[in-house]
Amino acid sequence: MCGIVGSIRTNANVVEFLTDGLKRLEYRGYDSSGIAVQTDNGLKRVRRVGRVALMEQAAKDKGIYGHTGIGHTRWATHGGVTEPNAHPHISGDLISVVHNGIIENFEAERTRLQGLGYVFESQTDTEVIAHAVHDNYKKTQDLFTTVQQACANFHGAYAIAVIANDKPSQMVVARMGCPLLIGLGKGEVFIASDVSAVVAFTREIIYLEDGDIAQLTADGVAKLIDKTGKTATRTATTSQVSLASLELGAYSHFMQKEIYEQPKAVADTAEIFLDAGFIPQNFGKNAEQVFKEIDSIKILACGTSYYSALTAKYWLESIAKIATDVEIASEYRYRDVIANPKQLVITISQSGETLDTMEALKYAQSQGHTHSLAICNVMESALPRASELVFYTRAGAEIGVASTKAFTTQLVALFGLAVTLGKVRGFISDDSEYSSALRSLPNDIQYALNLEPQITTWASKFAEKPSALFLGRGIHYPIALEGALKLKEITYIHAESYPAGELKHGPLALVDDNMPVVVIAPNDNLLDKVKANMQEVSARGGELFVFSDLDNNVEASDKVHVIRTPRHVGVLSPIVHTIPVQLLAYHVALSKGTDVDKPRNLAKSVTVE
Ligand code: AGP
Repeated sequence: MCGIVGSIRTNANVVEFLTDGLKRLEYRGYDSSGIAVQTDNGLKRVRRVGRVALMEQAAKDKGIYGHTGIGHTRWATHGGVTEPNAHPHISGDLISVVHNGIIENFEAERTRLQGLGYVFESQTDTEVIAHAVHDNYKKTQDLFTTVQQACANFHGAYAIAVIANDKPSQMVVARMGCPLLIGLGKGEVFIASDVSAVVAFTREIIYLEDGDIAQLTADGVAKLIDKTGKTATRTATTSQVSLASLELGAYSHFMQKEIYEQPKAVADTAEIFLDAGFIPQNFGKNAEQVFKEIDSIKILACGTSYYSALTAKYWLESIAKIATDVEIASEYRYRDVIANPKQLVITISQSGETLDTMEALKYAQSQGHTHSLAICNVMESALPRASELVFYTRAGAEIGVASTKAFTTQLVALFGLAVTLGKVRGFISDDSEYSSALRSLPNDIQYALNLEPQITTWASKFAEKPSALFLGRGIHYPIALEGALKLKEITYIHAESYPAGELKHGPLALVDDNMPVVVIAPNDNLLDKVKANMQEVSARGGELFVFSDLDNNVEASDKVHVIRTPRHVGVLSPIVHTIPVQLLAYHVALSKGTDVDKPRNLAKSVTVE
């Protein structure tokens, strides 16, 4: 939620980096944006409600030029989507601040600062940072110490960048709980919430740790202290992120690109198991020991990642025969739990920085859970850092807010985990059927992608409807949930999902000829049951849209539309059946003309409660 950038560039206009970087961080929030730049004529700030492009144009129109500046793209938490609430926030025409995160004690700080005479122009928590820094700075004139003092009073999570108008070649940054990195260039330095914002300018990256405060000049890091206040050194690494992976290329939307990248993303992730085998070491050095010790699993996640956990429960219980419990992270963290030191707590997160999931993990650890595994797509993000074991999916950068390839690669990781645990626990002696299923998976996904023209013909029918129902049974029920989430997220059509057997217990009352019913009906052991549930819909005049495999004798008719994948792929069928529901949501969104990559009210990385 929210993205921040900043830079000191000796020989170039900083605006070029700030606006480019903010566009690349728009996935983190896109309701308003702004920059503050030190120019020859003093500090200039430009803020606009709406996309970064609007703010960029305004900055161009004003001819803003300078060498030091900071920028922000916002997902509103405290205060509405208005220009006064957009960052940067300024205090006393001297201090400018951008902030990602939440200052939890901002009300107390606001009252304290109002008592000192500060007048607040926004409803944000961030403005207290600007005034608190300003208040200290007036006394010390030392920006670094000033930020350090101010941070000592803040509770919550933050990544901040601060500049002072009278120190044109300095910037101070601080990180606590939100991502922040420094990019080192030649005679220039950059900061950003995510490496995607800086790789077009430099690949030499320092990832700050929680509690770090750093003073920057164009030459790099002039001073850095860690959370204990001691001087520390952070080593730079060379980022391997490819610029092409951050560009749209020939595609119209990132979601479309990311759907089509799935054969490769899945193959890259599966390669970990196909090369090394289903061995515990794929999950970390101590994994073998941990896997031998555990007696059950608890998975914590949110949104799409939660649905991958629900899918994994079937594999973990059937293949590894280990009791698995799945819970929404934001619920888990606020209830009394019974900790079991022999239970492995798994967190799943594309971004690795979802606050609800992070806090759920911390809560589990505080209650006495000793073993944790993070399944994550972003290297060195908060969740893996806080976990004992880690598995990185190889989805590559996922930019569309609607998660696609991150989901299918999570499923590959979790399937690999189930087989690995099955072996460790002595239930599998020959894993060849599992490796051959994984080996064929990229092709099976490609076949599912080839169904796109047929799926397109369904899209206009959905676009006219106010609601849709998604049904599945067994391991395909979570895929129905994911289909409903994708549809509502990017088309704003109300969509619900039920296990098909549950229909008659209530939701059947919703079915009429205005309610399209999507059914995931592969040729598995539950097909006859699913077909009976489909009859219940047909008997009430409902229109069925069925995703199935060949040879399963689901007959198409006027009100039963069927799209078939070429074969039933067995244990990995949920992964293959994800593709059509993603494509359906995508094409309905195109028919409706909604913003596919940046749906209203959402952001990719949810770092608030
Ligand atoms: C899915 O399309 C979402 N945008 C959302 O549900 C997401 O999966 C959720 O916020 C969790 O994110 P994470 O995987 O980064 O933790």
